Amino acid sequence: MRRSLMAAAACAAFAWIAPAAAQAPISIKFSHVVAPNTPKGLAADKFKELAEKYTDGKVKVEVYPNSQLYKDKEELEALQLGAVQMLAPSNSKFGPIGIREFEVFDLPYILPDLPTLRKVTDGPLGARLLKLIDAKGMTGLAYWDNGFKVMSANKRLVAPADYKGLKFRIQSSKVLEAQFRALGAIPQVMAFSEVYQSLQTGVVDGQENTPSNMYTQKMHEVQKYTTLTNHGYIGYVVVANKKFWDGLPADVRPQLEKAMKEATAYGNGQSAKENDEALAEIKKTGKSEFITLSPEQDAAMRKAMEPVYNDVAGRVGKPLIEEFLKETKATTN
Ligand code: LMR
Repeated sequence: MRRSLMAAAACAAFAWIAPAAAQAPISIKFSHVVAPNTPKGLAADKFKELAEKYTDGKVKVEVYPNSQLYKDKEELEALQLGAVQMLAPSNSKFGPIGIREFEVFDLPYILPDLPTLRKVTDGPLGARLLKLIDAKGMTGLAYWDNGFKVMSANKRLVAPADYKGLKFRIQSSKVLEAQFRALGAIPQVMAFSEVYQSLQTGVVDGQENTPSNMYTQKMHEVQKYTTLTNHGYIGYVVVANKKFWDGLPADVRPQLEKAMKEATAYGNGQSAKENDEALAEIKKTGKSEFITLSPEQDAAMRKAMEPVYNDVAGRVGKPLIEEFLKETKATTN
């Protein structure tokens, strides 16, 4: 894989030089791992539409959904090598490349709703976190939403004790690992593209994700129960290869920034609706029974996951967690 990435990177490097000579459009490959009809898929397609429109054909964006080009870990390597120019990995996926701070978004119950999230991402902390990405050869461009997670398994998940001993697929985040350990479960890091099959064949027993991701990957067809926990959030950081982004002609970059701003507003404006609709679609299939927790059951889940904050303080940074919590409470006028 590494060798093919290197070859692709060499071609990509050449492709940057070629357009100037041949006046061919600048090509942006935007790779992602989810389906086109998800919050991220729709925002990526909107970015393509607007970027091509605003640059008057000077830029061509090719969106590759569903891990068509690369799986989670590989896509970050591919971006750093210049084989693709843009991605939107979830916050949880930045830890393995050395930016642990984004795992703060994974803390259980840290965000009650999307307006609260926006206070963080649109505030000084959000801007500072984006800057951390520079050191890894990437430029952080925007925060895109997915939404809040549900839990699923072939067993009814109501009380924390129900999780004990079950294997759960997680994204590559130490906070998510600590979360499932706090429930007595066994977390297993796995690429998104492998989740459906692993659930189907019993490699793992359960998973957590947003309804839109669950529905578009058909996970509900192999999970008898879905518990509407809303215990955590999945969102993305849109990143570009830094060298590519910095090297864009002066009459192109502002147009792409404008396209990104509008695609972000568009995607984030409808992410909640996308997830609500996915939940309704899952329900319609009758394949996965929904479980809604009572306030007491919800409180028990929160209590069971509380130790995670301490468990990961050393990794994510206690001051960062405190700052994050403070910003969630900030007023926005
Ligand atoms: C996951 O791996 O579950 C998600 O991060 C996939 C995605 O990009 O939404």
